[in-house]
Order: sequence, then C-alpha cells, then structure tokens
Amino acid sequence: MASRFLVLCVSSLFFFLLAVSSAPTSGYYKGDKVFDVRNYGARGDGKTDNAIAIAKAWNDACQWSGGSSTVYIPLGTFYLSQVTFTGPCKSYITFIITGTLTAPRDPDVIKQEAWIEFRYVDNLTVTGGGLLDGQGDYSWSLNDCNKNPKCRTLAINIGFAFVRSSRINGLNSINSKMGHFNLFAVEDFNITGVTITAPGDSPNTDGIKIGRSKDMHLYNVTIATGDDCIAILDGTTNLDISDVRYIN
Ligand SMILES: *[C@@H]1O[C@H](CO)[C@@H](O)[C@H](O)[C@H]1NC(C)=O
Ligand SMILES: *[C@@H]1O[C@H](CO)[C@@H](O)[C@H](O)[C@H]1NC(C)=O
Ligand SMILES: *[C@@H]1O[C@H](CO)[C@@H](O)[C@H](O)[C@H]1NC(C)=O
Repeated sequence: MASRFLVLCVSSLFFFLLAVSSAPTSGYYKGDKVFDVRNYGARGDGKTDNAIAIAKAWNDACQWSGGSSTVYIPLGTFYLSQVTFTGPCKSYITFIITGTLTAPRDPDVIKQEAWIEFRYVDNLTVTGGGLLDGQGDYSWSLNDCNKNPKCRTLAINIGFAFVRSSRINGLNSINSKMGHFNLFAVEDFNITGVTITAPGDSPNTDGIKIGRSKDMHLYNVTIATGDDCIAILDGTTNLDISDVRYIN
C-alpha cells in the first residue's frame, strides 16, 4: 500500500490552540428541521438492520425545502448493513451521530466500496462525536493482501465522493475492515475532532485516504491503525494538515 503514495504519519505534533470555541453539539441543529431516525423505525438494539430507516430519514432531510435540516442518530447501538446517502440536497444538511453505528460482521453483506457512503452533497456537516464500528476483527483473517496480489477488497468504514463545502467535526471510527475514511473528489472539505483506531497488527486498516481532492484542512485528529495513517493519492491539491496525533 505505502509505496505508491505519499504517506504521512506525523507523530507527537501538539499545537495548543488558544481561544478555540467549538459550538456545543446540540447547538448545531437549533433552528434546523430535525429528522430523528427513530421516527423512521430505527432501533438502537444492536440487531435491527437500520439501513432503510436511516436512508429514509436522509432522503426526507435532504429534500426538505424549508431551510437547513438535521438527520439525528441518538444514543444506542444501531446496526447498519450498508447505506449510500446521495445528494444534491435542497439546503445545508447536518448528520449527527451520537450513538454507535455497527457494521455487519460478515464482509459479504457490504457490496459497495464503503460501508457508509456520501455522494454528491454540498454543505454537509457530519458531527455528534459518535462511533462507527467496522467490526473488522471478524474479517481481518480473510485479508491475505501481503501475499496475494488479487486479494479481495473489504469495505472502508465511511466514504465521501464528490462532496463539497463540507466538514466532519467530531466522529470516532474503530476496527474498519480495510481503510477507515475515504475521500474522493471532495472540495473545500475539513476533518477535525476525529479519532481513528484499529490494532497495530490489523491488515490494511488505513486511516484517512485522500484522492483527486482539493482545498482540504485536517486538524486535531488522532490516528492509530495497522497501516497508513494518512494516504495522499494522485490529483490532490491544497491540503493542509496540522495537529495530528499518532498513537501506537
Ligand atoms: C452551499 O453553500 C453555498 C455557499 O453558501 C451556496 O452558494 C450553495 O447554494 C449551497 N448549496 C446548497 C445545496 O445549500
Ligand atoms: C475549513 O477550514 C478553513 C480553515 O479553518 C476555513 O477557512 C473553511 O471555511 C473551512 N471549510 C469548511 C467547509 O468548513
Ligand atoms: C480535538 O478533538 C477532540 C475530540 O477528538 C475534542 O474533544 C477537542 O476539544 C478538540 N480540541 C480542539 C482544540 O478543538
């Protein structure tokens, strides 16, 4: 993985930012129309597949024409087989994850590149400080990429493609099957307050992969994975990275 790309793992870079005032999480959706996934049948019981419920909440929020909207995932463990959130949306949209989203243990259930995908959205904020649990510990043993060049590709936890003027602010990701975050063809996109972890010996669990993207800021992120922390692929310009903590 590492050889073809510029790989960054900035260790122990601490910038103490003064006077940073971050809005309280609940403040993000004051005045927004809130689409609570529970009103679409989602259940945080760790068993129910919430893919359809969460996709419906997204569609209603995205098509809401009365102003900005918020999709709200409360505390609880929400099992999710796979989902794609597609835009364009009518206005600014916030996706708040306070609880945990849990991926299928069986990697064959996910038939797309990323377990959770956002595509063709502008003015999106993903926040809430919740957790994406990729359940990769159940499939890492299937990964033989170190000796098999035709090895199978397993899902990335979350992907953003053709997403502009957007940000991830407060999100945790653990035990992806392969990489954690994939950014492709995004523009004016910020990532902050993110913690990404997978065991040091987990195969190909890259942290943040960025390709064909421009005008990005990554700051205040903590990464500890089994492979590249931040991988920058071709066609990426104007990428600003600071305050990355690498733990092992
Ligand atoms: C996104 O924000 C930009 C800048 O404020 C605005 O011009 C554009 O219309 C917005 N798009 C949507 C879908 O809200
Ligand atoms: C990203 O961060 C930069 C620097 O803080 C800021 O100027 C820009 O408006 C931010 N963009 C988004 C989409 O949040
Ligand atoms: C950095 O992110 C963490 C969450 O990972 C947050 O608790 C903390 O307040 C952030 N620090 C700054 C200076 O924004």
